[in-house]
Amino acid sequence: MKQQILIAPSILSANFADFGGAVAQIESSGADWVHMDVMDGQFVPNLTFGPKLAEDIRLCSRAFLDVHLMVNSPGQLLGDFAAAGADAITFHYEAAVHCHRLLQEIKGLGKKAGISIVPSTPAANLADVLPFVDLVLVMTVNPGFGGQKLIPECLNKIRFLADARKKHSLNFLISVDGGINSQNACDAVAAGADVLVTGSAFFNATDKTAFVKHLRGNP
Ligand code: DX5
Ligand code: ZN
Repeated sequence: MKQQILIAPSILSANFADFGGAVAQIESSGADWVHMDVMDGQFVPNLTFGPKLAEDIRLCSRAFLDVHLMVNSPGQLLGDFAAAGADAITFHYEAAVHCHRLLQEIKGLGKKAGISIVPSTPAANLADVLPFVDLVLVMTVNPGFGGQKLIPECLNKIRFLADARKKHSLNFLISVDGGINSQNACDAVAAGADVLVTGSAFFNATDKTAFVKHLRGNP
């Protein structure tokens, strides 16, 4: 029995002058996680926010904070985001030599450990760390900006990961991130995704509750 699909709106697409309001919208829509896109302007050509925002969101919300580090040297930020109240911390495979060590460090901080791959990285590259992850975040756009179009070929990686999970009796979550909307969410779920990250489609939706229900596959 497949567990309920988790919906994780990304505050990258929110009004940066009102993150409190954005989190309140996420919570009232019935979505499950708050996805925080941390960007350093180096690993990706955009600069967003740091641990202080996680700290302030934690003060006003009990929502699950799903931190996505699109930064070089992610190891330097793990402690700060853990202390700020993140629930899951995901770094990029492409930004770390010692992925296994970082995953263990995140778990040592008491947080869910995630690893993410950009569209040009094969899912097979993660084979040796799958036993150590709680979450794999498959990018279906080139990271850095919201509002891009989903790259359909990336959905094959979800299928690969779902097969590997079954074959090796693992239980990590598969999250998909980039260009998710009400037209393509069913394809991502059919491929094996458990978590749907959605930025622009969520914040552009007039009825966010109905949008979340639709993404979950509920009428
Ligand atoms: C892109 C971010 C995504 C993005 C999703 O680098 O990692 O989380 O904000 O936004 P949409 O859903 O608009 O692609
Ligand atoms: Zn993201």
